[in-house]
Amino acid sequence: MSADRPDTHDMLVVHRVFRRESRVLAGLVPAVAAGDVVRAGILAAHYRDHALGLHHHLSAEDDLVWPKLLARVDMEADLVIRMEHQHERVREGLDRIGAAMPEWEREADPAVRDHLAGLLADHRAALVEHLDDEERHVLALIEEHLSAAEWAAAVARWIGPVRGASRA
Ligand SMILES: [Fe+2]
Repeated sequence: MSADRPDTHDMLVVHRVFRRESRVLAGLVPAVAAGDVVRAGILAAHYRDHALGLHHHLSAEDDLVWPKLLARVDMEADLVIRMEHQHERVREGLDRIGAAMPEWEREADPAVRDHLAGLLADHRAALVEHLDDEERHVLALIEEHLSAAEWAAAVARWIGPVRGASRA
């Protein structure tokens, strides 16, 4: 790959993390015993890290990738619009999980846990569909239509806050 083209391997790396975290959360939350607020608190904190990292990643794409692609691609505009709709769906799922999580943390009620487990399974399905689509169809567009500097700015937007959080 030439130096002035984006190296989209960064995208694959962060997607791998999101796939793993969404799988782990969907697997661990249903196994928490009724009333185990300590375990619920640990997993809720884990979920919030996942949601925050994902939020930064989606926002970076919304602000710094999709508008540039939409301005530069013609044939594939439908694809970029599909990415935006998938982001909306993922965000709606995160909002629903975020709304239910505090109640579960308080009492580790099994009915709330089961509700959350369903939401986390839905989240994983929506997320994986989006990440797969993006990797299959959009990375090539990014490599073709964004400069290396534009891509680096997008990557810095999602990596910077995560690095800052891990130093805190
Ligand atoms: Fe992505």
